[in-house]
Amino acid sequence: MLAIIGGTGMTQLANLEITHRQVIRTPYGEPSGALTFGHIKKHNVVFLARHGYGHTIPPHEINYRANIWALASQKVKRIVAIASVGGIREDLVPGALVVPDQIIDYTYSRKFTYFEGGEKPVTHIDFTEPYSDKLRRRLLKAAKVAGSPAIDGGVYAATQGPRLETAAEINRLQRDGADMVGMTGMPEAALARELGLEYAALGVVANFAAGRDPGGRGIDWNAIDGVVTQALVNVRNVLEYVVDHDAD
Ligand code: HPA
Repeated sequence: MLAIIGGTGMTQLANLEITHRQVIRTPYGEPSGALTFGHIKKHNVVFLARHGYGHTIPPHEINYRANIWALASQKVKRIVAIASVGGIREDLVPGALVVPDQIIDYTYSRKFTYFEGGEKPVTHIDFTEPYSDKLRRRLLKAAKVAGSPAIDGGVYAATQGPRLETAAEINRLQRDGADMVGMTGMPEAALARELGLEYAALGVVANFAAGRDPGGRGIDWNAIDGVVTQALVNVRNVLEYVVDHDAD
């Protein structure tokens, strides 16, 4: 089954015919909310709002381990993660969709692995390619068919938040090779890999990263909501295609 994790602005999936919700208890505590099960185009899908259904959980307080564990416990094999990002690279302008292919992790103080506590042998997952290529291709194709092509590739910088970055920090991220910046991509992607799930992200560019607005403006988070809400119409179409071409 395919899972969709919704990010900022996406606390529900408008095209999901909901069948039931289920609260999952995990050894890692509470997920962001109950899992929402349903169908899109007759395919089983499960949805989880990363920030909670009332959008109350900030990026650094999300229980990523519980979220991914809960999905895996329901026989989820693939996860499509929707995430809003700030655009650093010039072509990543507000409203654009992007399917990143690499990650740099700047987060700290988050519970970021299942391999702790000394019960299991030490495991080092291969994370050379952090996203599933197959799922990335499917997202890119879906976006093309849906008429809202997504930009193929880019380095996602995961920052700690919840504050936005300084202009100098964005310059540094760019020197490091980052193309976009968000607060939730890690440890989510690594945890999915640890549990053997295919994982890919669809980035929605919500704003120019700090210091990159051509008009010299700062970042107005309220304006972001409008951009994301509009882009989510496209995201919905993309997801419909992805689900329709996914083996259950
Ligand atoms: N920085 C970090 N995270 C974000 C941004 C940003 O500019 N926009 C959306 N998520």
